[in-house]
Amino acid sequence: MHQFTKTLVTTALPYANGPVHLGHLAGVYLPADIYVRYKRLKGEDIIHIGGSDEHGVPITITAEKEGISPRDVVDRYHQMNMAAFSKCGISFDYYGRTTSELHHKTAQEFFLDIEEKGIFQRKSEKLFFDSRADRFLSDRYVTGTCPICNNAEANGDQCEQCGTHLSPLELINPKSKLSDATPELRETMHWYFPLGRFQQQLENYVTQHEEEWRQNVVNYSRTWLNQGLKDRAITRDLGWGIQVPLESQEALGKVLYVWFDAVLGYISFTREWAASLGQSERWKEYWQNPECRLVQFIGKDNVVFHTLMLPAILMAWNEGRQSGRYNLADNVPASEFMNFEGRKFSKSRNYAIYLGEFLEKFPADTLRYSIAMNYPENKDTDFSWLDFQNRTNGELADTLGNFIKRSVDFTNSRFGGEVPCDSTAEEWNGLGINWAESLEQLDLAYEGFHFREAASLGMDIARAANRFLTLSEPWKVVKVDREAAARTMALSLNLCHALSFALFPVIPETCNRIHAMLGFEGSIEDLVTPGKSLVAELLLPGLKTGHKIREKSEILFTKIEESDIAPELAKIEGLLADAVEREAGAEQQKMEFKPVISFDDFLKVDLRVARVISAEKVNKAAKLLKLQLQVGSVTKQVLAGIAKHYTPEEMVGKNVLIVANLADRTIRDEVSEGMILAVEGADGKLFVVEPQGNEINGRLIQ
Ligand code: 2FM
Ligand code: ZN
Repeated sequence: MHQFTKTLVTTALPYANGPVHLGHLAGVYLPADIYVRYKRLKGEDIIHIGGSDEHGVPITITAEKEGISPRDVVDRYHQMNMAAFSKCGISFDYYGRTTSELHHKTAQEFFLDIEEKGIFQRKSEKLFFDSRADRFLSDRYVTGTCPICNNAEANGDQCEQCGTHLSPLELINPKSKLSDATPELRETMHWYFPLGRFQQQLENYVTQHEEEWRQNVVNYSRTWLNQGLKDRAITRDLGWGIQVPLESQEALGKVLYVWFDAVLGYISFTREWAASLGQSERWKEYWQNPECRLVQFIGKDNVVFHTLMLPAILMAWNEGRQSGRYNLADNVPASEFMNFEGRKFSKSRNYAIYLGEFLEKFPADTLRYSIAMNYPENKDTDFSWLDFQNRTNGELADTLGNFIKRSVDFTNSRFGGEVPCDSTAEEWNGLGINWAESLEQLDLAYEGFHFREAASLGMDIARAANRFLTLSEPWKVVKVDREAAARTMALSLNLCHALSFALFPVIPETCNRIHAMLGFEGSIEDLVTPGKSLVAELLLPGLKTGHKIREKSEILFTKIEESDIAPELAKIEGLLADAVEREAGAEQQKMEFKPVISFDDFLKVDLRVARVISAEKVNKAAKLLKLQLQVGSVTKQVLAGIAKHYTPEEMVGKNVLIVANLADRTIRDEVSEGMILAVEGADGKLFVVEPQGNEINGRLIQ
């Protein structure tokens, strides 16, 4: 196994178009922070780099919605998110912004290097242009009717009603979201990154890490690899972003695709971090040093950008270079999602708890602990107010807080606020805690990104400590055997000390308060010495006779009362009621019949029986089957949105009912010459109408 001497941790750059919520915290920022803090405690060389993703359509859409400039949007949310992270104790070494000058320069350097190597391709294509707004329209700026389910408000990239991924060209009656105008098709040229050129290298890269990476990360990457990697456009016609750094006419008005620029943000921000220390070359020790391990924390929706796109960009850069080569990620711990009271967080529906707002009401460590205990490592998890209340009151306040307070108070009241004696190794190991084993387990949990387990192990020590103190009853024993009570208190204070280290990565502020109550100046971070592990010290009791603790104890956690969370529960009820109403409304809308058509209109519809001769799936359209139908002597090709309900094999040989005189339509470059009839089951399954008998000339005989 490769020996690393440094670690670079990066966290996905959240779009600066809204406040971060607890789902973001749970999946990416808290796990990363716990990991980084643990390794710092071990005296390792590690830095944590993050920042705001400030380009791309999500930003311009928010700006348009709010009637402000994209610059105003990113300024507002960058500050807001940075402040919320800081209040939550997320200890970034640097938190940058992709609108910075150095980031623009870095991304442009990459573009030029790859351009000069002749790796990019240029392709012209026809895209929608809004002549009223004088702008090309990216997918999300186009709306229209879904060709699959007839939803009149499908987006240019996807229909929310039936879930089909679309291209804007497939929409019926496309409209520009900017002006409502019908957009026209105009030719435009874009730069494409040929991912396929790196197929083999990327396969090797994924294979190399297969054992180590999480299953979801390998699966998402393999799915893409197995489909064969396609060219990806890496420029856009958009007024907001990083200019394509070429003088030519064709580069005018073009910016880098936000994902091409964002993933390079990790590099720019490390450069900015180094510059901020006055050591402008130091970033290379982290990016261009094979002894540095790169760990990238992300959510599962961002996997392929980190396991395929960024690596391919770096491979392109590294090509032909002996020095100045970039490291690829060694691990990409992608989380599953954390839901909120049983439902997905949704920014657009305002179904979320925003981090900043949460921290105005409750302390950061209560949140950190309860989220760590629900870390969505391998499956989606849930944040609920009740669970938050139970963990805070039962585990943090009653177990941990209570133990620390009793230890400090009793030492003050009966032993003059001093550690009354040394604890022996024997006593330490007789507490019912196997320290060597616990530390090993703790290390495996933190190092292996099993943060729920790490937090639980820490709480197990607190439970054992609390039990020990309660069962030892020093308040009684002291009256008859002062020395025995002294030994109990020395051990208890040492347990407080051990807990302050074991739980530090998860609840750092609390652990610093314990540290202070134990009479230490400064914070636990101040003790960090390169190369020396503070965690290893727990193997032996560290506080010696006469060590002075602080006179006053503190209540570490205030219990959360019903009345504290009642307004939150009421708010959710309101949000849920809205959601249910919306869904019911949607149901009802489906039940509403379309406007009446005349009998004559109906007679225009030519319904025929057809026999399915062959059927196959359609590339990139998960819902579509391409059917060849025999209607009398005529063969028709029909694209049907039934792939989720029937396999091609099931369809072959069936009789179906078709609208035989429907105008042709092109979907995914394929012509559809009719429509087959199906009915919807109550659970959304589709049933193709299957006339029983034999088809002759488009009619049925039995
Ligand atoms: O999904 C998102 O919020 C993106 N802004 C993540 C970008 S991660 C990286 F590429 F910077
Ligand atoms: Zn649809």
